Amino acid sequence: MNDQVIIFDTTLRDGEQALSASLTVKEKLQIAYALERLGVDVIEAGFPISSPGDFESVQAIAKNIKGSRICALARAVEKDIDVAAEALKVAEAFRIHTFISTSTIHVQDKLRRSYDDVVEMAVRSVTRARKYTDDVEFSCEDAGRTPIDNLCRIVEAAIDAGATTVNIPDTVGYTMANEFGGIIATLFNRVPNIDKAVISVHCHDDLGMSVANSMAAVQAGARQVEGTINGIGERAGNCALEEIAMVIRTRGEFLGVNTGLKYDEIHRTSKLVSQLCNMPIQANKAVVGANAFSHSSGIHQDGMLKNKNTYEIMTPESIGLKNQALNLTSRSGRAAVKSHMDTMGYKDTDYDLNTLYDDFLKLADRKGQVFDYDLESLMHFANLRDEDDYFKLNYLSVQSGSVMATTSIKLQCGDEEKCEAAVGNGPVDALYQCIYKLTGYEIALDKFDLTAKGEGEDGLGQADIIANYKGRKYHGTGLATDIVEASGQALLHVINSIHRADQIAEIKQSKRMETV
Ligand code: KIV
Ligand code: ZN
Repeated sequence: MNDQVIIFDTTLRDGEQALSASLTVKEKLQIAYALERLGVDVIEAGFPISSPGDFESVQAIAKNIKGSRICALARAVEKDIDVAAEALKVAEAFRIHTFISTSTIHVQDKLRRSYDDVVEMAVRSVTRARKYTDDVEFSCEDAGRTPIDNLCRIVEAAIDAGATTVNIPDTVGYTMANEFGGIIATLFNRVPNIDKAVISVHCHDDLGMSVANSMAAVQAGARQVEGTINGIGERAGNCALEEIAMVIRTRGEFLGVNTGLKYDEIHRTSKLVSQLCNMPIQANKAVVGANAFSHSSGIHQDGMLKNKNTYEIMTPESIGLKNQALNLTSRSGRAAVKSHMDTMGYKDTDYDLNTLYDDFLKLADRKGQVFDYDLESLMHFANLRDEDDYFKLNYLSVQSGSVMATTSIKLQCGDEEKCEAAVGNGPVDALYQCIYKLTGYEIALDKFDLTAKGEGEDGLGQADIIANYKGRKYHGTGLATDIVEASGQALLHVINSIHRADQIAEIKQSKRMETV
């Protein structure tokens, strides 16, 4: 049996569907580039029939990503499969992933069909998907709770119809590791054509078992593991791929398997996903938590000083965690900035050096020393910014005390610069009132978070907001040495996205009027 485990990432599909605000196409592309750099074999980019936005992002990812196979999800319905194929057809290599529920509770109470119907729909959808590609994945939703005879029957039928990968999800995270491994072992023993397809697993983490269950399945013969970065996803999330990666890297000899991943990309991929998805990582999270490699107790520290292997089963360097304390200053030239980006592993195509250098100089003037993580943050923020942002903050002045705060701003609104001043119960409140007045947008905030990016006093302030506008949620983020300015940037990020969406809707409307 092949000893390479295929890594299937569904951060942009199963992970994204659980976020409070959807990712933009640009954000999804940034994550897809990071996944490609990490070396994941398959990127599930979305569910194209679910919305025009999802269709557009699957298409953009299919067009731009060459190093990983691009996959899209489709229910076992003809239209879903056709739309998925349409979004994917620009890709160099693509897969259609179709699914239907197979557990008795789902078949009877959700689908309200007979099991014969379900098998027939599975066969029909796999056959249809095979018209577009010879890479078709079929998933038996809620396989973990499906009677084993029914599961064997549908797996055999799907493979006969042409499925090249058959995925066995523990959709509700219900099974125990030996139980789930047993299901996979039974499939290998009882399904006669099982050798014609790769058996995949997709485990959710409701009982905290997803990684253990996936690894038990690998030991039983599964050769594809599905999951998400940082384990984001429905309810308690999906299987965390960085954990699967490091289990296989650390215990590969015991398991007899490997992956094609570039493990030293794990740390920054995880940080990027956390940042763009606005999903902080708990400090004690395995592999990527802030404390995953720190040793607190005196006894442990003593052991580490004598021999690192006493308490360290994997090194921080192996996931790409570098302890660099670069001190670039405003006197550092463009070449120095580029050289530090090279050292951190970024290619010229990952960022625009002119923009990064301008942003670096502004930051260096205000902050003095600029560290590697600052450069990384500047790059991510510049990649999110749109050249055509309509509203830009040109000037900000804040007076704040123990009673009220006053803020005055100059805001670029298209070609015009406008000024406004307001009083509020705090500086952010006063600033937001200025922005609401000048832009004409009044937005309800569901969430407002301030965090420090970077270490100690040298950290930058990062503001993240979730805003609700006409029933749709937007995530806005801002980064600055000043937390009030960062808060303003976060609100402008949201307002620029809304303004852009409004403009697109207006253009579509006037085109419709022209054709009437
Ligand atoms: O959890 C699940 O069953 C799924 C399927 C669509 C694969 O996400
Ligand atoms: Zn799932």
